[in-house]
Amino acid sequence: MSGAPSDRPPGAGEFRRAMARWATGVSVVTARGPDGDAGLTVNAMLSVSLEPPSLLVSLHRDVDTLPVVERSRAFAVNLLSHRQQELSERFARAVPSEEKFRGLPVHRGVTGAPLLDGTLGTVECRLVSATPAFDHRLLVGEVVRIELGADEAPLLFFRSGYASREADERLRLPASRP
Ligand SMILES: Cc1cc2nc3c(=O)[nH]c(=O)nc-3n(C[C@H](O)[C@H](O)[C@H](O)COP(=O)(O)O)c2cc1C
Repeated sequence: MSGAPSDRPPGAGEFRRAMARWATGVSVVTARGPDGDAGLTVNAMLSVSLEPPSLLVSLHRDVDTLPVVERSRAFAVNLLSHRQQELSERFARAVPSEEKFRGLPVHRGVTGAPLLDGTLGTVECRLVSATPAFDHRLLVGEVVRIELGADEAPLLFFRSGYASREADERLRLPASRP
């Protein structure tokens, strides 16, 4: 631990720096709406329970995909492989949904959500609850279908960037960091 303990609540910058030390996988959450497909890159995802299988994703209240998920009451979590950084970048852009899906090979799941090809797997969920949490909404989904893809290395997000291989420079920590 570094620095003397302080009563001052941490700010956003300090919190971001702490979270940058937490490695996550990267997924694309997709849903089908009446006006077409929607999707965004998400690393705030965790499994909730095994019985029943369920998971949680945390979406910012202003993202375009949120109303589509809430209206269709379903979503899919597409787990990205180390080969799919471009997809993560594509679905993180603030562009209209049609643009994100343009020319992209997808197939349909049982929920109607678009499932991206070439992922490590896809977990389709029925939306169980949507709980406000500050500027985010915590969406809990009960898993209705799983599709497993190639058993490859995942795309990782760590230290505010992508890390796709164990040998990646980003994962090679210096002996000591301030
Ligand atoms: C690696 C990475 C992880 C992200 N994780 C989340 C997340 O967990 N929740 C979220 O709301 N946005 C997250 N974002 C930001 C959204 O992908 C981004 O705001 C997107 O443009 C929203 O798309 P939409 O408005 O079309 O739904 C993440 C972005 C990146 C690059």
